[in-house]
Amino acid sequence: MIAPSILSADFARLAEEMAAVGGPGRGADWLHVDVMDAHFVPNLTLGLPVVESLLRNTGTPLDCHLMIEDPDRWAPGYAEAGAHNVTVHVEAAAEPVALAKNLHAAGANAGLSIKPNTPLDPYTDLLRHYDTLLVMSVEPGFGGQKFMPEVLDKVRAARRMVDTGHLNLLVEIDGGINADTIEQAAEAGVDCFVAGSAVYGADEPERAVEQLRSRAAD
Ligand code: DX5
Ligand code: ZN
Repeated sequence: MIAPSILSADFARLAEEMAAVGGPGRGADWLHVDVMDAHFVPNLTLGLPVVESLLRNTGTPLDCHLMIEDPDRWAPGYAEAGAHNVTVHVEAAAEPVALAKNLHAAGANAGLSIKPNTPLDPYTDLLRHYDTLLVMSVEPGFGGQKFMPEVLDKVRAARRMVDTGHLNLLVEIDGGINADTIEQAAEAGVDCFVAGSAVYGADEPERAVEQLRSRAAD
């Protein structure tokens, strides 16, 4: 699956930018929405009112990546609003098991994200409560950074747990994914690829999505 990140889109034309990458079946499977609070990460983007507007303007499922402090308090609102996936950071969640349950109760899939330098081992017991694991392959905060291949060990570890039947989880990767880096991520076992600059920096975003999809399948 391909999830274009609207972080690299024109924020004054978000509805058109969402439409430009198509929807399920012809283009984007999910639209990735980066919520940043200028505390958990050194950047500020958008919050719940904008996500509510986005939901009214697209039929594509929204994959909300919350790079915020205190997700225990704020994340369920995104689920109640109708986001398909609500992903919180393991470094920020105080009670990640209770939070996953709250997200499910509000009707969303629960995602757990992990920064490049955070080890996965201490958190593997949490994963059975979540639907996706979002492995960050850049330091969260900005688009257009260089892919960090060392995080693929975490992808491989998660893939093994899924393939051996120990977990039922989608493995997602976020940061520096483009036509060159997507193949190694696919080989490591990623199910869903987030791409911001590689899609919205292209002349034809919908074509860029299809190119990424075919490179991942190679
Ligand atoms: C970064 C965000 C990413 C970002 C990826 O903190 O979480 O979703 O949009 O952008 P690219 O694909 O340009 O690295
Ligand atoms: Zn993201």
